[in-house]
Amino acid sequence: MVRCPGGAPRARISTVNLNERSLLIELAPSILSADFARLADQVEAAVRGGASIVHFDVMDGHFVPNITIGPPVLASLRKAVKVPIDCHLMIENPDAYIPAFAEAGANWISVHQEACVHLNRTLHLIKSHGCLAGAVINPATPVETLSEVLDIVDFVLVMSVNPGFGGQKFIPSTLEKVRKLVAMRSSSRTNFRIEIDGGMALDTIGEAVRAGVEVVVAGNAVFGKGDPEKNASELLKAAHNATLVRV
Ligand code: DX5
Ligand code: ZN
Repeated sequence: MVRCPGGAPRARISTVNLNERSLLIELAPSILSADFARLADQVEAAVRGGASIVHFDVMDGHFVPNITIGPPVLASLRKAVKVPIDCHLMIENPDAYIPAFAEAGANWISVHQEACVHLNRTLHLIKSHGCLAGAVINPATPVETLSEVLDIVDFVLVMSVNPGFGGQKFIPSTLEKVRKLVAMRSSSRTNFRIEIDGGMALDTIGEAVRAGVEVVVAGNAVFGKGDPEKNASELLKAAHNATLVRV
């Protein structure tokens, strides 16, 4: 017991971090919800708030029912910001575009398992361009579909909404896939990171981190309203709080 000066005795409460990996949680704001006319300013604000990666969503109107941005915007953003750019390709035939995104300045490139007939080849293509390679699975795709590439990928991205739009509601059942990936990583002695994308906000980020997520994408919660710096900082605080346990 600790006696407070002039007060009643109270129990000592201290906290420790759950595990080593929980110290490495990173926030990757998705620019899909940013004001594109003020893109660099908005990203810089999120970085001041602690974000350490920029998530760049590419949609082709075929793989997903929306169209966004491509290599020219990436090249401009690359000149304006210093943090790594995580390029999420929601497109058909990604092999045809990976060289252009790498050339434009992508640091991480992820492709959907559902869009790749030759996923092994596509992941090696990403690596051959000097980028970290990620495989993405939609909410309806089982994690087991990635079992043969876990030794190749640098990260796995679990979609926690159906891809195509920002600001959708988080699908809680996707966290079971995160837990399975943690177990698969341990039993396969591989070392990929686990990223989550979709519906991450102050009320969902904690459970995602506790399930084993290490990289959190958030669009609407960072850029949807208010100040991106404050939003990013509050999300990271909630993520880190979720990794603490009382002793
Ligand atoms: C959805 C995109 C996401 C999206 C996340 O298809 O891949 O990156 O922008 O947005 P929020 O955080 O608003 O769900
Ligand atoms: Zn995304």
